[in-house]
Amino acid sequence: MLLTQKPELFEGLIVQKRKLGYTDLELTTVGLGTWAMGGPWQFGWGPQDDGEAIAAILTALEKGINWIDTAPVYGCGHSEELVGQALKQTAIKPIIATKCGLLWNQKREKVSCLKPHSIRDECHASLKRLGVELIDLYQMHRPEPEEDIEKAWEEMAKLAQEAKVRYIGVSNFNVEQIKRIRKIAPVASLQPPYSMLHREVEDELLNYCAENNIGVVVYSPMCRGLLTGKFSQERLAGLPLDDHRRRKPDFHEPRFNATLHLVDKLRPIAERNNITLAQLAISWVLRRSEVTAAIVGARRPQQIAETYVASDLELSSEDIEQIEQFLSERLEKIRR
Ligand SMILES: NC(=O)c1ccc[n+]([C@@H]2O[C@H](COP(=O)([O-])OP(=O)(O)OC[C@H]3O[C@@H](n4cnc5c(N)ncnc54)[C@H](OP(=O)(O)O)[C@@H]3O)[C@@H](O)[C@H]2O)c1
Repeated sequence: MLLTQKPELFEGLIVQKRKLGYTDLELTTVGLGTWAMGGPWQFGWGPQDDGEAIAAILTALEKGINWIDTAPVYGCGHSEELVGQALKQTAIKPIIATKCGLLWNQKREKVSCLKPHSIRDECHASLKRLGVELIDLYQMHRPEPEEDIEKAWEEMAKLAQEAKVRYIGVSNFNVEQIKRIRKIAPVASLQPPYSMLHREVEDELLNYCAENNIGVVVYSPMCRGLLTGKFSQERLAGLPLDDHRRRKPDFHEPRFNATLHLVDKLRPIAERNNITLAQLAISWVLRRSEVTAAIVGARRPQQIAETYVASDLELSSEDIEQIEQFLSERLEKIRR
């Protein structure tokens, strides 16, 4: 299942597509992630240039990427606004995925809210910022507060009935939480984290989603840039104070150094395949047929111009086995 539908030739590359769960959406296996573009807030990525962000979105579309993932909370509305501005500058109409359930306060800190009236208000605000009449995929950002997920899902199902959104999905849910809401309305997709450094989704979720025809769009496939080969102790030390990555355990010892070693070992694999480390990291998550697509973050056009190529890559079983070995060695290192 979830095999490539109609490969599209683009600049000599085949931008692969896979069908999203039970829906009729055919997503390119690389989707554009727009979190970092949103600029400063509690979980910002340091200074951000709007012109570059819009250029990155337009580059993604020109390269054949057919969908964009955003969220109201990314930059407190700003990421969605930038997507809306970019859409005005192109005739291409990509599939738009956004989210609900995370608001923000005056200090630009996230506030979880799954109250039905709030979900409805959020949807209207997102439609306005994005400048579209319909959101193709509307996702509950987090199952928080957990006791409210059923009521929120009911409201999202109503928004779908009213054709304000086309399909509804979830993000950061576990199997039990998905089972609870599936009793109310079908789940089109799950958006979980997945990368060489975060493989929890392999335990249960991938299998469950495949068995139940739920699409899987994985986030942070390059582990927020760590797997691109562009990180070093110097770059880490120089990250802006308002870059949230400074606070993530992956960017602290012993994990950070273990990842630098891993990346050094991955380098020859990328070289012999004539690809970059960023492309290797993305094609590695796409090796799993249960994964519909990877959401690949970018905030500059050159970044996505490099990474979209991963849509057309297939790793050999020897490469996959060797990567498996390197990942086990890294785990041993950080457990010691
Ligand atoms: N649902 C959720 O809870 C959730 C959580 C996380 C992410 N997401 C979604 O998934 C998307 C992707 O995840 P992510 O942005 O966290 O992580 P990611 O895709 O693993 O990494 C993105 C970062 O990697 C760096 N990068 C990108 N292309 C590069 C290249 N060609 N060479 C070197 N570095 C490159 C950039 O950082 P620099 O510009 O700093 O170098 C970029 O911001 C997000 O934008 C968002 O849409 C959703």
